[in-house]
Amino acid sequence: MIIKTIKAIPSHEITDEQVFIQRRTLIKSLLAATLVGNSRTLFAQNKAAAWPSIAQSELSTSTLSPTPAKLVKEYTNYYEFSYNKEESTSLAQALDVDPWSIEISGEVENPSKFHLEDILSKQTLEERIYRFRCVEAWSMVVPWVGFPLVNVLNMAKPLSSARFVKFTTAQKPDVMPNLRNESILQWPYTEGLRIDEATHPLTLLAVGMYGERLPKQNGAPLRLIVPWKYGFKSAKAIVKIELLKTAPLTSWNKSAPNEYGFYANVNPSVPHPRWSQNSERLLGSGFFSPRRQTELFNGYGQQVARLYSDMDLRHFF
Ligand code: MTE
Repeated sequence: MIIKTIKAIPSHEITDEQVFIQRRTLIKSLLAATLVGNSRTLFAQNKAAAWPSIAQSELSTSTLSPTPAKLVKEYTNYYEFSYNKEESTSLAQALDVDPWSIEISGEVENPSKFHLEDILSKQTLEERIYRFRCVEAWSMVVPWVGFPLVNVLNMAKPLSSARFVKFTTAQKPDVMPNLRNESILQWPYTEGLRIDEATHPLTLLAVGMYGERLPKQNGAPLRLIVPWKYGFKSAKAIVKIELLKTAPLTSWNKSAPNEYGFYANVNPSVPHPRWSQNSERLLGSGFFSPRRQTELFNGYGQQVARLYSDMDLRHFF
């Protein structure tokens, strides 16, 4: 994956003028947001003090070609709206994402509700091109725009008792018709990470993709991206982040614990009980293209395998 600050995207990497124009517009609008308020922040100091960092060279390992944006925007899983991909894409347009605030609570010194613009005003936005692997055995490559989750956790000053992080997402019954249906999932949609996963430099809070603000159907205004885990971990439209002493129950784990584990690290040798996870259909690669061989940790093993060195990967999900 490639990591760059949004200011550093060279124009020669942008193939299409329209995309270039959109990206410039995004840079302007997102940077306008980041300039609100006082940009001299405690992040840089806290980040270095509180969590281990990773060399920038370790974050830039390969060049990936993004999946066509249209596919990523239209092939979405957003179950609060519908279990049907096309329907969830169109219904999600009714979600009002401005203004937005995020509560951070639990094992922290400074539990607070933050306005999204206050969070953004303290961030340097980066573009990160990550592989994204769904547990349904399809994959894509997405240029996300965002910032490390650890930056936001540090705003609330985590206590050393914080071992896990729980994410709770928006629940708006007036615009999310599928909230009435609890036959598969119970609402709100929740997810969780271990604290070392949450503070890993690859773990991102995305506010944009393809040089634009995040589309509503892809999780606007703010979603989690954990590139070495199956896509269901990447909670959309986050409203609450809790730091906890014990592992939280997550939506899919609660719904079908034998099929969806808490860790959900991409692992070709651990099949889903109903299908193999050995290979994947890369969206946009053409109907007759060969399937892509799925990689352990979705190809990010060099960066994250050390987090799991004492666990038996054969039975690990
Ligand atoms: N977040 C919320 N709030 N609701 C959801 O239904 N679906 C998850 C995840 N985040 C989901 C969610 C699943 S199953 C996947 S694969 C990814 O979002 C899909 O992200 P995409 O639609 O942007 O491709």
